[in-house]
Amino acid sequence: MPHYQGQMSSKLPNMGSSIFSTMTQLANKNSALNLAQGFPDFSPDKELIKLCKKYFNGKNHQYAPMAGIPELRNTISRLAEHWYTQKYDPATEITIVPGATAGIYAALTALVKENDEVIIFEPNYDCYVPAIRLQGAKPVYVTLQHPEYKIDWDHVKRLVNFKTKAIIINTPNNPTSTLFSAEDMRHLAELTKNTDIWILSDEVYEHILFDGYEHQSVARYPRLAERSIIACSLGKTLHTTGWKLGYLLGPENLMTEIRKVYQYMIFSANTPLQMAINEYLETYEDRINLASLYGQKRDYFLQKIKKSRFKVLPCKGTYFALLDFSKISNEDDFEFAKKLTEQHKIASNPTSVFYRNKINNHALRFCFAKEEKTLKAAAEILCQV
Ligand SMILES: Cc1ncc(COP(=O)(O)O)c(C=O)c1O
Repeated sequence: MPHYQGQMSSKLPNMGSSIFSTMTQLANKNSALNLAQGFPDFSPDKELIKLCKKYFNGKNHQYAPMAGIPELRNTISRLAEHWYTQKYDPATEITIVPGATAGIYAALTALVKENDEVIIFEPNYDCYVPAIRLQGAKPVYVTLQHPEYKIDWDHVKRLVNFKTKAIIINTPNNPTSTLFSAEDMRHLAELTKNTDIWILSDEVYEHILFDGYEHQSVARYPRLAERSIIACSLGKTLHTTGWKLGYLLGPENLMTEIRKVYQYMIFSANTPLQMAINEYLETYEDRINLASLYGQKRDYFLQKIKKSRFKVLPCKGTYFALLDFSKISNEDDFEFAKKLTEQHKIASNPTSVFYRNKINNHALRFCFAKEEKTLKAAAEILCQV
């Protein structure tokens, strides 16, 4: 097709395609095992599929109400209260969205204005920065030091000023597999007390914590909950990332503004899937035992690579493990990940891409949300490297 001849200036000039697509393409091209992108290679529960068939065969094929079907919002309200002892009003404080990414984008678009500053912790998941920049706002980075990725709250405090509009947190964290502690939450509450700062809390891995750790949801802390929007992903919770369904929780005044944006951005999420998931969660909420499922996968994978030359970094949550390759190579992590994909037929994610300045910690991120046979094959390869 001939090129568009008009004046065109990119709104995101330095943004290429996401590393997840890049590594997945490279994995496919090289017929490599793909442990790069964060999705399970096993099927969701058959009961859930049965319910989907039931609702797709029914008559529910038109637009859902903008905020989501009331039944699913009621169920989510009940579950959030059960998990975090915080009551969210289904009518005004819960919005069903097509995936956490869409919810995060709607929240930042609604609540961040030009020249505002938004504090984020890096390494960070990739969807925050473009959404901040597209509002004409500025991401302000707090760089967490490898390998512990601990937050220096005094440093964060020094970054807060009259332009600071929001702070984005993500626990359990992708890509570091670290968790916020109760002490971190205390610092966050102290820092935001008597300010207008709101918090975007990305909690898509809320059910994937290991070794007895408890998820520190902002919903557990009334003083944080009252200024926080929580982004959750049913894709992560039900092993259905391709269905793109999630939800936002938050106080009515913030949610009202978000809904104003969301109604013109997307309007509403898939109706039959909402119905199926609602019935599934009503009946099967106790089956959400991701900590045990993924804990076993983590232990299996890490045990199998014990004899390799990779060093495993602490993995307290999510379905990602960071492996340090500094005993094997001095290379840039992207080059090393590429080599592993092309020569050893296993794809991972370099962690430098999660930093604005591409800091190379010689660490790769592997997704272990895979069947045992995939993890076994992956471990065999890694032991040969
Ligand atoms: C930290 C984090 N937030 C948000 C998302 C996106 O979730 P969804 O697929 O529901 O949009 C992901 C997906 O990998 C993630 O890792």
